[in-house]
Amino acid sequence: MSVHVQRLTEAVRPRLLEHFLRLSAEDIRLRFGTTFGPSAIAQYVERIDFDNDAVLGVYDDELTLAGVVHVGFSGDSAELGLSILPGHRGRGVGSALFARAAEHARNRFVTRLYMHCLSENAAMMHIAKKSGMKICIDTGEADAFLKLPPADPASLTGEMFDQRLALFDYALKTQTAALRKITDSLGDPED
Ligand SMILES: CC(C)(COP(=O)(O)OP(=O)(O)OC[C@H]1O[C@@H](n2cnc3c(N)ncnc32)[C@H](O)[C@@H]1OP(=O)(O)O)[C@@H](O)C(=O)NCCC(=O)NCCS
Repeated sequence: MSVHVQRLTEAVRPRLLEHFLRLSAEDIRLRFGTTFGPSAIAQYVERIDFDNDAVLGVYDDELTLAGVVHVGFSGDSAELGLSILPGHRGRGVGSALFARAAEHARNRFVTRLYMHCLSENAAMMHIAKKSGMKICIDTGEADAFLKLPPADPASLTGEMFDQRLALFDYALKTQTAALRKITDSLGDPED
């Protein structure tokens, strides 16, 4: 199954909040490294700087945000945080978001990509190792970083192409969802 990752705009805030509110308390702890209630999550979403940072997402067929990565930029480094809804895990969505976040950071001339997570987070540790991150573990927490290669014409056009493809995929999903709604409202012709 191909996973289409798109860069999201500020307009996505309500859906982003909905995404985080669908995660369990344990997922929130793994994602943020601490326990956060709904109002703290709402504040976090409200404060995301969509101009400086990048928020990349994957939509499912119902146009729900199945997976999200927030990439924060500071100087010549970037830090990412990933979350995938439980029903969409184990299908490559997290890995695809990680790869696209690294590509995006590389294309913004950032040289290092960081990730902080709990070392008990086996799936995330696996993705980090698979992606070539160097990992330092200390008292149950892991800091991982990846040295990024410089941007080149292939990485720049590759990201542009991926974005176009993801927008096309989103448009198709929107049309299919609209058609489904019409078909459902017409009901079964046999009735
Ligand atoms: C961690 C998380 C992002 C992974 O997302 P995902 O979409 O399931 O990831 P993928 O399907 O791309 O890859 C998961 C990989 O981890 C592996 N994995 C899953 N559980 C594992 C475990 N317990 N031990 C080792 N590897 C494991 C899978 O086999 C897969 O490996 P593969 O790609 O080599 O086959 C998701 O579980 C999540 O959102 N968790 C809650 C929030 C969180 O922990 N965020 C990370 C903080 S930065």
